[in-house]
Amino acid sequence: EMDSFVSSLLNKMTLKEKLGQLNLVTPVAVTGPLSSKNVKEKLMDGTGGNVYAVMQDPEFVHSYVVLADSSRLKIPLLNGLDIIHGYKTVFPIPLGLSCSWDTVLIEKTARVAAIEGSAEGYNWTFSPMVDITRDPRWGRVMEGSGEDPYLGSVIARAMVKGYQGSDLTNETSLMSCVKHIGMYGAAEAGKDYNITDMSRLTMYQNYLPPYKAAIDAGAGSVMTSFNEVDGVPATANQWLLTDLLRSEWGFDGFVVSDANAVAELEAHGVAGDYKQAAVLALNAGVDMDMASESMMASLEQSLNEGKADIKQIDDACRRVLEAKYKLGLFKDPYRNYSPGKAENIVLCQAHRHLSKKAAIKSMVLLKNANQVLPLKKDAKIALVGPFANDKGEMFSMWALRGEKDSVITILEGIKNLNTNVQYAKGTQVIDDKKYNYKTRFYFDEDEQQKMVAEALEISKGADVIVAVLGESRRMFGEARSMTNIELQHCQLAFLKALKATEKPVVLLLSNGRPLVISEAYQYADAILETWKLGTEAGNAVADVLFGNYNPSGKLTMTFPASLGQIPIYYNHKNTGRPYPSKKRGMGYFSNYMDEYNAPSFPFGFGLSYTSFDYGNIVLSDTIITGVENKLTATIRIKNTGKYAGEETAQLYLNDPVASVTRPVKELKKFQKVFLQPQETKQLTFELTSEDLKFYNSKLEWDWEPGEFVVYIGTNSQEVEKVGFVWKR
Ligand code: IFM
Repeated sequence: EMDSFVSSLLNKMTLKEKLGQLNLVTPVAVTGPLSSKNVKEKLMDGTGGNVYAVMQDPEFVHSYVVLADSSRLKIPLLNGLDIIHGYKTVFPIPLGLSCSWDTVLIEKTARVAAIEGSAEGYNWTFSPMVDITRDPRWGRVMEGSGEDPYLGSVIARAMVKGYQGSDLTNETSLMSCVKHIGMYGAAEAGKDYNITDMSRLTMYQNYLPPYKAAIDAGAGSVMTSFNEVDGVPATANQWLLTDLLRSEWGFDGFVVSDANAVAELEAHGVAGDYKQAAVLALNAGVDMDMASESMMASLEQSLNEGKADIKQIDDACRRVLEAKYKLGLFKDPYRNYSPGKAENIVLCQAHRHLSKKAAIKSMVLLKNANQVLPLKKDAKIALVGPFANDKGEMFSMWALRGEKDSVITILEGIKNLNTNVQYAKGTQVIDDKKYNYKTRFYFDEDEQQKMVAEALEISKGADVIVAVLGESRRMFGEARSMTNIELQHCQLAFLKALKATEKPVVLLLSNGRPLVISEAYQYADAILETWKLGTEAGNAVADVLFGNYNPSGKLTMTFPASLGQIPIYYNHKNTGRPYPSKKRGMGYFSNYMDEYNAPSFPFGFGLSYTSFDYGNIVLSDTIITGVENKLTATIRIKNTGKYAGEETAQLYLNDPVASVTRPVKELKKFQKVFLQPQETKQLTFELTSEDLKFYNSKLEWDWEPGEFVVYIGTNSQEVEKVGFVWKR
């Protein structure tokens, strides 16, 4: 039915109208300088077949849909937006949310984002971002799920399911756009828009799985990345967009370029001008040009000159029309929108409740010396720091539709539970707020002294100091690469001054990427990573501080001990000269002279107010034979502390001898378990030969018989282990 509908529509379309479907115009520049001119006219004459980032009130968004509906063929609009971590109800940044390891919860957050976004007229979201990231200098690590391909894949699937629901035609579904294909997370030196360069083996093994998982889950569209892959920019890369994506993976949705990425093929040096760029992108497999309008402006001429192929244009146009058909837009271009409807949906109690739950589960306890946390319910608190009472600071740059006023700050959240709190800002943040890209590093020494003094003053009468430090929302996200990801010097000095009061200091980190906190670690008794938690941030933080919820998050990206260790990730190779991670400085081994190999906090790390004791791993067998066979690994976990709590038990595998070198450990499974004090539960993990598979040098996905090691534990480093043999 879809085929015949789309074919008959294609037959009626002029070349301009077809090219219009390949055109994604933007009235507002979101990232970078580009915005389209005459958007309304383009919608009406069919040369602007899709819009993104309208970002006005729903009535205005709706007026664009009406314009498209008045065009000659009334082809409905794809109306896209970056709905990344919630819509009006804002959830924790994706990196934070991934630390919940809770795919059911994550799926629900995406569902709520879709319900709210669709009610305001959007039908397409540029999410999930599933780029694997190993370099926290890159500002966009905040948008993904961290460094692990397995966890990244299960989260990618959950998000696609959440956005798209079980049926794309449902009026609350948003079409998902998985991004950025490919390997954008490996931008060299953590510098945004930079090249990536890696072996195919690493791509297949570590970087490609989450994209594939999102596509297998039915993601309707894919966005290209800004970087090059094997020397050819992704947006012109036929291997990537056609051979891999369509032929190997069977993707049947459409591909959109990233913003202006088609025109940027010229700067990359693979196209002489935007006309050639448009042809290259089209031929590689790009179906829609975001923002550059190069395709619209030039493909007709290229066609006349014999440089472009009408079949390619028709195919691209067909895929875009099919997406609209799949969303049910031809039947109802307005879908979930009706005047006034959104008001009752966005930020409703149920959505706020979910936001709080997500926030609670995203926090990661990194240190808790002398059980400083949880705080006594009536403790006298000095709350300090620039992020403690700033509503906008609970968002990232990607909370595009988030409403600051709806946010509960940390101060407000604490006050909801304990009125014994005094607040002072205490320190400046050195970011680009005041000078907006001109003088990024603004700092006023006199002002700083005054602020610190004020904070120390209110600390005098307090039982405990809670300091909220880290990064402002302008310091991470797209185009926010940093060479220094330590806590800023002024904040560190402030923290040191707090420590000198000899009161217990609780550091709440508020940031978008792993930071280097080796020094800060010494000045805080407890450290809780709170990321940017969204609408209900303050209530969630207060619940954790006072022990209404026992923190359970686990890091999904390694926290380096020093900058020079970057890139650093748990699933590294052994090398020919491995070196114990907790020693340093020995010659002629793979290590540093001046630093340990160990990070500050490894992948999977996260403390609890209670303690969990792992027993030994018991295997159903130690010698397994055959492809069809199964192995179970069982372990007992006991809550040995005094608080009830949730633990995420992680199972890793290692294949010590194989035809290609294998990582020292790879996450294969995990289970969450809730235990009352002194309670013990037994967890059973099932392994099949599928779990032993990897890409060999012919890029075949297969396993090799022999010895394996299974590890189970509380993080990627503190594990129990046992070996087994699996024969063919
Ligand atoms: O979706 C984004 C992408 O991730 C980065 N460039 C801009 C796009 C649209 O906002």
